[in-house]
Amino acid sequence: MNLEDYIRIVPDFPKEGISYKDITPLLQNPKALDYCVQKFTESISAEIDLVVGIESRGYFLATLLAKHFDAGFVPIRKKGKLPYTTLQESYDLEYGQDVLEIHEDAIQASQKVLIHDDVLATGGTAKAACNLVERLGGEIVQCNFLIELAFLEGRKKLSTVEVNSLLQY
Ligand code: PRP
Ligand code: MG
Repeated sequence: MNLEDYIRIVPDFPKEGISYKDITPLLQNPKALDYCVQKFTESISAEIDLVVGIESRGYFLATLLAKHFDAGFVPIRKKGKLPYTTLQESYDLEYGQDVLEIHEDAIQASQKVLIHDDVLATGGTAKAACNLVERLGGEIVQCNFLIELAFLEGRKKLSTVEVNSLLQY
């Protein structure tokens, strides 16, 4: 299967000059979803206790991966969405900063954690997610992504963890 066939490139979205990678064709196709889960999971031999998904587009595959590993699912959300006590990490956007949060009781020390998001771009989001997981004592087995925008070199920000992506642009 060629996964690229299921990524729709939308020029100039959300603004001029951005070539948006739309994963909805992939999400619509059960065989493509199965293929992604299989590709993601074949690179992981360790036990996984929890899959952490990053709001919002990271959630789709993260829950499928949690099911595959018979693991729990933990959401990392943008500021102000989680109802209970949280830990926070700020990260850089193109203009300004934003904050990600995780519930303080979402991970127990030494649990084996897989972090998933749809896209690795500059790496700011994923790095903040890694920091949250590590502050709770989780051990990151891998960070994986459907798509890596390799020209943005986000991988450099994640140099201390294993990184896997299924498609590179
Ligand atoms: C996008 C994408 C990743 C993040 C990658 O999410 O889904 O989460 O940007 O960017 P970075 O590597 O430069 O930090 P976005 O914040 O647009 O939100 P969404 O998933 O809710 O659409
Ligand atoms: Mg996102």
